Amino acid sequence: MDIVEHILLSEETLQSRIRELAAAVSRDYGDETIALICILKGGLMFLCDLAKHITSPVTYDFMSVSSYGDATQSSGVVRITKDLEESIEGKHVLIVEDIIDTGLTLSYLLKNLESRNPASLKICTLLDKPANRQVEIPVDYVGFEVPNEFLVGYGLDFKQLYRNIPYVFVAKSHYYQKDN
Ligand code: IMP
Ligand code: MG
Repeated sequence: MDIVEHILLSEETLQSRIRELAAAVSRDYGDETIALICILKGGLMFLCDLAKHITSPVTYDFMSVSSYGDATQSSGVVRITKDLEESIEGKHVLIVEDIIDTGLTLSYLLKNLESRNPASLKICTLLDKPANRQVEIPVDYVGFEVPNEFLVGYGLDFKQLYRNIPYVFVAKSHYYQKDN
């Protein structure tokens, strides 16, 4: 694909790290039921692959928040566009997210979910891009720390495309810079 500058995380690299994360999660939660909360749409691929390898009992629910729109810069505006279907009160909640960039999305979500009185609330992110962080976020599980580049694939989109690509790549800058 012309948009690919280079592949950052291959399918094999992603899958083997995700198995390690699932093992760590399973060890920590044991027989407790985990309420996995997938942040759509980016967290979907990660949720599926992670959940397959978790041995603790799990439930899923989905939430959608807007922070980026189709632009490649965080707007700082966070809004719930789809809320959970079930109550999380008294449950062990694990947020499953694709990437933490500025941290604005998760900072808002943490406050929002905390106010619903879960028994515990943790974060599992596949990618962590610390260079852009604007608010500190307590992250419990991180797949990979990544450089401050515009990443696409395995959940991450460019104009809603390429979320289905099984690896993470750095996009050629001329693709997104002309949009800003
Ligand atoms: P934050 O609020 O800045 O932490 O943004 C988090 C959200 O921005 C993620 O869940 C992604 O949907 C999106 N995002 C952040 N960095 C990238 C990237 O490099 N490529 C595509 N989407 C990104
Ligand atoms: Mg996301």
